[in-house]
Amino acid sequence: MHHFEYRNGVFHCEDVPLPKIAEEIGTPFYVYSHATLLRHFTVFDKAFEKIPHLVCFAVKANSNLAVLRIFAKAGGGADIVSGGELYRAQRAGIPANKIVYAGVGKTRPEIRAALEAGILMFNVESSQELLTIDAVAAEMGVKAPVALRVNPDVDPKTHPYISTGLRNNKFGIAWQTALEEYRNAARMPNIEVVGVHKHIGSQITLVSPFMDALERTLELVTQLKSEGINIRYVDIGGGLGITYKDEAPPHPDDLAKNIGPMLEQTGCTIVFEPGRVIVGNAGALVARTLYTKSGAEKTFFIVDAAMNDLARPSLYGSYQNIVPVEEEAARRHKVSADVVGPICESGDFLAKDRVLPELRPGDLVAVMSAGAYGFTMSSNYNSRPRAPEVLVSGVRYDVIRPRETFEHLVAGETIPAYLE
Ligand code: LLP
Repeated sequence: MHHFEYRNGVFHCEDVPLPKIAEEIGTPFYVYSHATLLRHFTVFDKAFEKIPHLVCFAVKANSNLAVLRIFAKAGGGADIVSGGELYRAQRAGIPANKIVYAGVGKTRPEIRAALEAGILMFNVESSQELLTIDAVAAEMGVKAPVALRVNPDVDPKTHPYISTGLRNNKFGIAWQTALEEYRNAARMPNIEVVGVHKHIGSQITLVSPFMDALERTLELVTQLKSEGINIRYVDIGGGLGITYKDEAPPHPDDLAKNIGPMLEQTGCTIVFEPGRVIVGNAGALVARTLYTKSGAEKTFFIVDAAMNDLARPSLYGSYQNIVPVEEEAARRHKVSADVVGPICESGDFLAKDRVLPELRPGDLVAVMSAGAYGFTMSSNYNSRPRAPEVLVSGVRYDVIRPRETFEHLVAGETIPAYLE
C-alpha cells in the first residue's frame, strides 16, 4: 500500500499534487511519502512483535538523512556496508548499538571507525577480514562483537546480479567451513562472537528460500550453542521483494507466520535488514517529457530523467511502472514506446516496448517504485547534476536534498599548475 494516487485528475503524493513540486523545483526529482515510509516500517516491525527483534534498515536502499531519521524515530537501526553509511546513520541519529556492518571489503579505517562508534556487530565475510578486525581491536584495546556471515547456498530465485547466497557468490563464509571459522573466531583474543548472519539476495518473492536458508542457519546456531559459543543475535538479512508490476511477494505477516516459530526457538534476538520492502514503493521519480519521435521502427518518448538518475532499468532490466501525472494524458490513445533519457547510450532507458498513452512534450510522468536503489545508485554521468529529493507529509513537502549545481559537478577538481 502506498500514498500515490489521482485526485481530481492529478497524480498526488499524499495531499500534494506533483505538478506543484515540479513548478517549484523543476524536474526530474525524487519524491517520497512520509506516511508510506512509516507505514511500511511499522508493518514490518509489528509482524515480528512477538519475538525479541531489531529492524536494521538497509541504508544502501535509501540513505537520505531525513528518511533515516524517520526510521530512527520509529526505533529502527541500520544495516551498513561502508564508512560513509556509518557516518550517515549516525548523523541521522541511529544509535550505534543498533548498527550492523556487512560487506566483503571493510578497510582498516572503516573497522576502526565502527569500533570507535560502538556498533552492535560486524557481519564478517572472510577469515582474513576476521583477522584484521581482531588486529584493529587489539590496537584499540577493545573486543569486537562479530557475527559470521554464512553462505547457506540457497537459490533465492531472483535476478543473478542480486543473488548473494549461492555457492558461487562472493559473499559470506562457505557453509561447509563455517563451524571451523567460528571455532577460530571464538579463540581470538579481541573478538567476541555474538551472532550469526545470512542474507541470500534481494527482491525475493517466495517464502521458501527464506525457510531453506534459515533451516541451515539454525542448525549452525544449535551446534554453536552446544559448543558453548554464546550466540545472542541471529541476523537473517533482508531481501523481501515488492510489487513492481505483477509480482506477489509475501506480506511481512505471511513471512512472520512461516518463519516466526523457527526464529522464536533460537531464544536469540532476531535482526532484520529490510531495504526495498520499506522504501521501494514509497518513492517515485518525476520527469518531464521533452520530445517524442517516431523512428523507422519505434516510438520514443524522451524525458528529462535518465539512467544516471535511475539505473535499475538499464542495469537489471527492471520494470518500473510509468504513470502520466495528468489523468487526461493517461486516457489518450495507447502506443508501444521506449521511454528514454538524454544520455548518449542506447542503454539509457526507463522503459522498453511499453504500452503507454501517447505522451506530448511537457507532460509529467511518475516513474514508480523508485524509492529503493533509485537516488542511492544515481551518478553524474554525462555531467548531469543529481536530482533533488523531496519528502511529502500530508500537505507539506520539504526538499531534503537540493538539485546539484554545476559547481557541485566540479567540486574538488583541480588543474595541476604545469597545465596552466
Ligand atoms: N542486507 C544485506 C547484507 C544486503 O546486501 C542487502 C542488499 C540488504 C540487506 C537489503 O536487501 P533488500 O531488503 O533491499 O532486498 N541494487 C539492487 C539491489 C541490491 C541489493 C544489495 N544488497 C536493485 O536495485 O535491485
